[in-house]
Amino acid sequence: MKILILNGVNLNLTGRREKGVYGSETLESINAEIAAYAKKRGAEVAFYQSNLEGELCTAIQNAEGAYDGIVLNAGAFTHYSYALRDAIAAVSVPVVEVHMSNVHAREEFRRQSVLTSVCRGEVLGFGKNSYILALESFLL
Ligand code: DQA
Repeated sequence: MKILILNGVNLNLTGRREKGVYGSETLESINAEIAAYAKKRGAEVAFYQSNLEGELCTAIQNAEGAYDGIVLNAGAFTHYSYALRDAIAAVSVPVVEVHMSNVHAREEFRRQSVLTSVCRGEVLGFGKNSYILALESFLL
């Protein structure tokens, strides 16, 4: 099982921005924990982060035939990117949407995701463990 862990805009600042919301662990250290978990569960993971919408669309397009699933935290793109939504809809590789924070307990604009309806499912509110739980959903 090969899973792509895909992070979008501003997620590279994890551990440095809004620590009260996203915690103080960096994306690198979270990715290392995901890699260790995946190894234990016999899964293969790859990581990619971009602040650019088009690059994330390309990563999703290129995942077709290369990965069995995508764990996607699109960051703020979640709330308005029809381009990402269409990229997810265009491929057969299943995508699980992830958020570290409970987006429903925050600002109104975060309650809407334009991605969820084309994703297999969604995991949110569990901090870095949201990624682990989303990964596990592919391994059950
Ligand atoms: C986020 C939630 C989004 O609303 C926000 O724009 C992010 C991170 C999360 O992981 O909780 O950048 O996706």
